[in-house]
Amino acid sequence: MIRYQEDARSWVLETDLTAYVLGISERGHLLHAYYGSKLPYDADYPPAADGHGWGSFNSAEDRNPEEYMAWGGIRYAEPCLKATFADHVRDVVLQYDLFSIEGNQLTIVMRDKVYPLQVELLYQVLPGLNLIEREVRLANLGSSPITLEQALSGTLHLPREESYRLSYLTGKWAGETQLQQMNMPEGKFVMESRSGITSHHTNPWFALDAGGAADERQGVVYYGALAYSGNWKIATESRLGRTRVTAGIHDFDWAWELKGGTTFTVPKLVLGCSAEGFGGASRSLHDYQRQLVLPAPHRSELRKVLYNSWEATTFDVNEEDQGKLAEIAAELGVEQFIMDDGWFGARNTDKAGLGDWVVNPEKFPNGLQPLIDKVESLGMEFGIWVEPEMVNPDSDLYRAHPDWVYHYPTRERSMMRTQCVLNLARPDVREYLFNCLDKLLTDNRIRFVKWDMNRGFSEPGYPDASAEEHREIWTRHVQGLYEMVRQLKENHPEVIFQSCSGGGGRVDLGILQYFDQVWTSDNTDAYDRLSIQEGFSHVYSAKVMEAWVTAEEHWMNGRRLPLKYRFHSAMTGVLGIGEDLHKWSEAEREEAKGYIAQYKVIRPIVQHGRQYRLRSTRQGIVSSVMYVSEDGREAVVFGFLLGNRNGDELPLIRLDGLDAKALYREEQSRTMKSGSAWKTMGVTLPLRGDFDSCLLRLTRVEG
Ligand code: GLA
Repeated sequence: MIRYQEDARSWVLETDLTAYVLGISERGHLLHAYYGSKLPYDADYPPAADGHGWGSFNSAEDRNPEEYMAWGGIRYAEPCLKATFADHVRDVVLQYDLFSIEGNQLTIVMRDKVYPLQVELLYQVLPGLNLIEREVRLANLGSSPITLEQALSGTLHLPREESYRLSYLTGKWAGETQLQQMNMPEGKFVMESRSGITSHHTNPWFALDAGGAADERQGVVYYGALAYSGNWKIATESRLGRTRVTAGIHDFDWAWELKGGTTFTVPKLVLGCSAEGFGGASRSLHDYQRQLVLPAPHRSELRKVLYNSWEATTFDVNEEDQGKLAEIAAELGVEQFIMDDGWFGARNTDKAGLGDWVVNPEKFPNGLQPLIDKVESLGMEFGIWVEPEMVNPDSDLYRAHPDWVYHYPTRERSMMRTQCVLNLARPDVREYLFNCLDKLLTDNRIRFVKWDMNRGFSEPGYPDASAEEHREIWTRHVQGLYEMVRQLKENHPEVIFQSCSGGGGRVDLGILQYFDQVWTSDNTDAYDRLSIQEGFSHVYSAKVMEAWVTAEEHWMNGRRLPLKYRFHSAMTGVLGIGEDLHKWSEAEREEAKGYIAQYKVIRPIVQHGRQYRLRSTRQGIVSSVMYVSEDGREAVVFGFLLGNRNGDELPLIRLDGLDAKALYREEQSRTMKSGSAWKTMGVTLPLRGDFDSCLLRLTRVEG
């Protein structure tokens, strides 16, 4: 998979379908040489060639596709590395030192020409997934500290083309992961988060296709995603006829003191190149999450059908009412019953109680056990909501430790949702939180934790810290969170963890290393959800995408949607129910029971199968998404109609991912056609009226 070519002084990193080539140029620079389809001969790959300058304003180095550019000399593009040495020299000059190949991993070591700063570039080749993971270890081999001011994960250099289209995800609370596409402008375009969390506004993923020529099924798409849940930055640059993307931890207000003898590891950047358009790119990322990223204990298990009480009861929870909801949920076929906010401290509104992780004695006079017993006797698992990184000023915790939140002594503490962010850079805060949660999970048979995070950072001060540590809080918070969850999982391997941040504010490949699934959006309107879920699917697998069926008339926009449509929209991910179940009539409960039973049958296809976006929500009145089982024997097709217009015929939906020669029977119409025919001729989905939906099932006919 990885070959060193002695003559060319270059490394060829091959996956099943792609090749990534880098090498040492004549002038000794580590340069990118090629990324794209695998070619037949090594001689096909270009050498790492030094560029040339442009007038007296751009040096050759400035135009070189450096694999890991450090700021120093004449370089004006976005650097990966910027550092200040103890003698105030702020210029890094990296030189290639050595390399090693171990299995599918290439390590290239570079060192500063004068100072004891070592940079190890790690490339992990994932052959079947057609992905490359990049990671960087920065080590101070001396004794004087080195201040890192920028330490990104890497740069992707694109082949020379006249233009590229950039695809990325933007959004807001209740409107996350909306796909945006634009022609890459000349100059720089930065996607970022500065709010301390991954952010609702942009997600750390990008995709580029030359001339906007790729689509869901064909064309070359370069893409990448960052495994980090704090402030991040992805800068795309089109300058001097070249295109590059640099991604990593945001350098804004960031610094890290690399003490003598220590190492700093940057977050992983995963890169891919798909020749099967955007669909192929997404499927590689989905497989990657299911095979390698998700936490091991539950990685290969199917996610369960859950009930969540939030939209039904908000803060008004108690043993009796929750018990009644649990009875109906169990009758419907729900497998996990999750009690949301309101069960602890003085938590009756969002104005008090956060930080006091003790059961509220008025709501639960005998603790949680009677409710847990009841939930379990009904055949379900019990789960609970927490928001550990937060505190309301009106709480015992804040009264005891007002200095435990990020703050500046001379500034007012800005509130959002009447809460402050606890300082997870502090070891005492982490210890306190860990003990609270560990006790909660030890004392009670809890099998699911919804871990929320309902605001961004402000006044990110840590007055007790040493001078150098102040700007480290951004990263220390993320590291503290990861470590806390890792330890909790180690102590309680049976518990499923869900990442929530006011919906989808903290969804990324970093959090997915520790959390088993995510809350996609607080927007549970089944129609709005289609575009949120579609954007989400560009990066993340349906297996981690929680989707709930909620009230007929939606709280946010008053839209009324049929139960069938609400179920079908939620069945494209991890199905959950979030409705006040008392409001459902007998007939609705019966109908719901049917969908839940059907979901349990198709969920291996949805959660573990290959996903095909057949028609986008941006393409008009019909959208459709399809899943094909791992073994290719079964498929499900979901279709959604906004509303018929002018008697127009509905568009043909051309299926995908089926074995071309095999025969597949569609269950309802009993139509039997080859995979190839389903693809070429397509099908008019049985949709009519407003907000109609359908679910087709196809099975391969054996023999
Ligand atoms: C956030 C979550 C919701 C719910 C509330 C509880 O907004 O996204 O699902 O848990 O907090 O306060």
